[in-house]
Amino acid sequence: MKCDILFCFYLCCSTLIIVVQGGSKDVVVDLEGRGQGILSYVENQNDVMSGNGDGGAPSPPAKPLMVGLTLIRGADSKGAVCLDGTLPGYHLHRGSGTGANSWLIQLEGGGWCDTMRSCVFRKTTRRGSSKFMEKQLPFTGILSEKPEENPDFFNWNRVKLRYCDGASFTGDSQNEASQIYFRGQRIWSVAMEELMSLGMRDATQALLSGCSAGGLASILHCDEFRELFPQSTKVKCLSDAGMFMDAIDVSGGRTLRNMYAGVVNLQGVVKNLPSTCTSRLDPTSCFFPQNLVSNIKTPLFLLNSGYDIWQIQASLAPSSADPHGYWNACKRNYLRCNSSQIEFLQGFRDQMLTAIKSFSMSSQSGLFINSCFAHCQSELQYTWFADGSPSIEGKRVAQAVGDWYFDREGVKDIDCPYPCDNTCKNLVFE
Ligand SMILES: *[C@@H]1O[C@H](CO)[C@@H](O)[C@H](O)[C@H]1NC(C)=O
Repeated sequence: MKCDILFCFYLCCSTLIIVVQGGSKDVVVDLEGRGQGILSYVENQNDVMSGNGDGGAPSPPAKPLMVGLTLIRGADSKGAVCLDGTLPGYHLHRGSGTGANSWLIQLEGGGWCDTMRSCVFRKTTRRGSSKFMEKQLPFTGILSEKPEENPDFFNWNRVKLRYCDGASFTGDSQNEASQIYFRGQRIWSVAMEELMSLGMRDATQALLSGCSAGGLASILHCDEFRELFPQSTKVKCLSDAGMFMDAIDVSGGRTLRNMYAGVVNLQGVVKNLPSTCTSRLDPTSCFFPQNLVSNIKTPLFLLNSGYDIWQIQASLAPSSADPHGYWNACKRNYLRCNSSQIEFLQGFRDQMLTAIKSFSMSSQSGLFINSCFAHCQSELQYTWFADGSPSIEGKRVAQAVGDWYFDREGVKDIDCPYPCDNTCKNLVFE
């Protein structure tokens, strides 16, 4: 089988069985070989690269940089703890040369918990407790240390802040009876304090990034991040796959809105939402980027797919909204959607484009909205910057983000609608 280096890596080195079909650029995931649900896969794609959590994965030919976990000592004295009360943590790889005073902070993603039940479960996982976090994580894509993989940020100080609160780093409450702590906002604060003390206070350039729930967090915390620095520091924010829409699902309900209402109420999120939004809308609406992005003062880049695969599966056509399973084939493989389903998905993309219209008018905003069945395109090497990685008019994701960050040129890349883009790495589940 013919394959480029990245996909050969997948073929031989992952415990997942991933096949690149002849001629097609789909990334086919064998879920049965994994015993894992689609959502869990979509939320944990980075693990594929390292074999993390699977154990026994053969070592890859081009071994990604592995960076160790540091727990934030003393965070507990400020009440900044994971759901189970353990210390929060981060992974830091120091910058060098021209990047020595530049800082990239990436907020980890991984869904939310919206009920006591789901949060109590979550505190027994790495998304709710540092007891269960990987001691090392691979730094790939925007976190890579190699200029050929990450042309603009490779020599920056690069940080992955672990996500263990379940509310995109914004909650602040606790439940004594269940011994559960909702302290995302405090985790954010102590992590920023710690990084400042490690040299971030001298940053000349900084970028707050994050994907999925971390992409939402980078929107919610963008202006706060800006305020950590003097005016002379260049500060911008990147949200990857964070454009979660307040959309109507296939049965006419609002699955994601119901979930967000649970997150916001259970975890005491309200007081940490931007007042520019809460002064005019209800708290749950203010957890949706569409009601926030136009009011963010700091330059923000939205990187998203118009057909975000997580949103299709978890927000538009979850089994709760599709009890007969009419969407099962389509949500696993876009090639199996019929014409009315594609029409529904086109409508979803249209809503997203409408939602970002006024945001996109601002000269400082950046956009890369492609038409791929994907979710998170900055962390994985094969979507961030590789031979044949997704592009819009020949520009790949890493180039678009770099051009915007460094003001080399304005970037408002909106792809033509499906099926026109043949550079996609669409996710397909079998
Ligand atoms: C597409 O599939 C759905 C669910 O099975 C069905 O209700 C609809 O009529 C189909 N549309 C077309 C054009 O076949």
